[in-house]
Parts: sequence; C-alpha cells; structure tokens
Amino acid sequence: MTEAILLVGGKGTRLRPLTVHTPKPMVPAAGVPFLTHQLARARAAGVEHIVLATSYLAEVFEPYFGDGSSLGLHIEYVTEVEPLGTGGAIRNVASRLHSAPDDPVLIFNGDILTGLDIKALVATHQSSGADVSLHLTCVEDPRAYGLVPTDASGRVQAFLEKPQTPEEIVTDQINAGAYVFRRSTIDTIPAGRPVSVERETFPELLAAGAHLQGMVDSTYWLDLGTPQAFVRGSADLVLGRAPSPAVPGRRGDSLVLPSASVAPDAKLTGGTVVGEDAVIGAGARLSGSAVLAGAVVEPGAVVTDSLIGARAQVGARSVLTGVVVGDGASVGPDNELREGVRVWCDARIPAGAVRFSSDQ
Ligand code: GTP
Repeated sequence: MTEAILLVGGKGTRLRPLTVHTPKPMVPAAGVPFLTHQLARARAAGVEHIVLATSYLAEVFEPYFGDGSSLGLHIEYVTEVEPLGTGGAIRNVASRLHSAPDDPVLIFNGDILTGLDIKALVATHQSSGADVSLHLTCVEDPRAYGLVPTDASGRVQAFLEKPQTPEEIVTDQINAGAYVFRRSTIDTIPAGRPVSVERETFPELLAAGAHLQGMVDSTYWLDLGTPQAFVRGSADLVLGRAPSPAVPGRRGDSLVLPSASVAPDAKLTGGTVVGEDAVIGAGARLSGSAVLAGAVVEPGAVVTDSLIGARAQVGARSVLTGVVVGDGASVGPDNELREGVRVWCDARIPAGAVRFSSDQ
C-alpha cells in the first residue's frame, strides 16, 4: 500500500489575510478545510498512511483530523522547529515511513486542487523505473511556474524556474506539485537544513544522472495560492467541476451548511458556499463566493468572486467584487470594494467610506 507525505507547513503569504490565523491547507473550501479534499482523494486512490509535514501554525492540524480514522486514514504529524522548505520537510519525515527502499512514496503540495489520476502516476513511476516521477500540467502562461521539459518518452530534461524571456519558455509543461519518490531517494536529500525540492533537489538529482519521469495529466488543476484562485477552487468544488469525495452536500449552484441561515429571497449562484452559522440577509446576491463560518452578509449586499472570512460582516447594500475580507473584519453598509482589495482581519470600514463609482 503506497504511503504519502503532505506538505502543509508553508506560510501562505500570497493568501493573506486568510492565512493570518489559519494555515492555507486549513482554510475552508466548499465547506471543509481544503486539506480534507486532498486527504479524501488520496484515500480514494488507496493511500492509507499519510504523514503531514507541518510548520506554520502547526498546532491546528491534529485537533481537527486526529488520527485520521474518520477519513479511513492513519495520519501522523511531524512539525519542523524552523521551516525546512519543501525538500527539507520531505527529508524530515523520512523516519515515519514504513516503505521498503524501492517502494514508491507519494508527495503532495498542500495547496493544489486537481483531478490527477494518482494511481496512474504511481503506475507510470513503476513502469518507467524512475527515481522520481512528477505530475505535469500544461498552462497557457507558464511564467509564474517551474517549467519541466521532457523527451518523447516523458523523461525530464531540465527544470527551469520562473522563465521570463520567450527563449526560456521551451515548453508549457509545469511542475503540478504531486510527486512519487523512490523511498531510498528521499534519503539523498540533506537533513537538518532548509532545502527546496523544486530549486535544489530536482536539478541536483538530474545533474547526478537520476531518472526523473514526467506524467502529463491535463484534468482539472488549480494552484490555490492566491485569494482569487482559492475562491475559484471553492466554487469549482461546489459546482462539481473539481472532483472531491469530501464536499459536504450535493453539487450545484450553491452549498449551504446546515447551521447557516439564508433569507428566502437571497440569491446564491456560481458555486457560492455559506459556512456554519453564517447569515445571509434578505435580497443579498452572492455569486462564486465563499462565506466562512459565522460571517454575516446584510440585506441587499452584492458579493461576487469574494471570500468573506470567519465572523466577518458585510454591510447592507455593499458591493464586493474579487475581494477578501479577513476574519472578524467589518465592512460597513454602502461600500464598494473591487478586484484585489484585501480587508485585514478585524479591520472596520465605516458606512459609505469606500467607493469606485460615483454615488450619484
Ligand atoms: P506562499 O508563501 O504564498 O508562496 O505559500 P506557501 O508558503 O504555501 O509556499 P508554496 O506555495 O511554495 O508551498 C508549496 C507547498 O509546500 C505548500 O503546500 C506549503 O504548505 C508547503 N511548504 C512550503 N514551505 C514549507 C516548509 O518550510 N515546510 C513544510 N512542511 N511545508 C512547506
């Protein structure tokens, strides 16, 4: 039985302020901490033993997932005193693995939403005899990613981090954040210091003549690192565009958790999720948005592609598009907030204080 390591120790800086009190993998997507979807998908692919490599806000994982038995898993937790980076985190949990030296070990970034065929990645790894196999996905604009060109047989030829010039963009295949390592290859990562698997381990393995295999899988893939992507991923889970066995309800235009309260004439569309004990007022319109636990959206507010943090408040008639409201923040009535605004946790915006359009 293949075992897995999940990397969940990053600071999630691009997602702030959502990650001020909550590590990125624990931010709710479609009503449950995002990590639940990844754990459930791993379980569905036959994984039973998972080691969570934690660092930032490490203490919140175990109280929620416990020993993993409610998901049919055996989960262990290993916390880094100082963050060790992606490669250092993998090396740091090696002693918890039970696999034999040649066995495959799955490794997942904790912020990727994907329909990857996990079993096919393991099968490719075994049939190719690779030391490391990587899930690759093709993107239109690869500049923000690590490019991974392969030869005709899928063998990796290079790792090119964040290419800028057209000459550097030699492929549209990028590292999609899921790997299979031969168990013994994990021991070649230096212990006890920060190591980046993308920038150090992979290029060094390649230079040393190791066999790295890429598998292009073009199903749903989204890196939930930014607020815009996170809310998109949550909506896609609700809509059923992104696969997960862990969505707590039926797929559709919206998902309302049982303890939430939604006014009968409020309109919820585009994969909007309303979390536990949240309240949506009369005539409010929400599209493609996530309202986290205990938040309140007052009557007549219009919220599009936005994330409303836990216990936050959106005042009556306020219009929010592409906005993040941090936990406990309050946006007073009659505000207009647009694309990219991040309201910090517990901030207070008075009534009618911020507009983009004229008020007349
Ligand atoms: P940003 O700060 O917004 O870039 O996010 P991040 O900190 O999550 O970094 P990144 O997206 O590059 O990380 C990829 C994956 O590795 C995520 O699942 C992180 O949780 C995880 N990760 C990154 N750094 C560390 C680390 O030092 N230790 C552990 N255990 N995991 C890490």
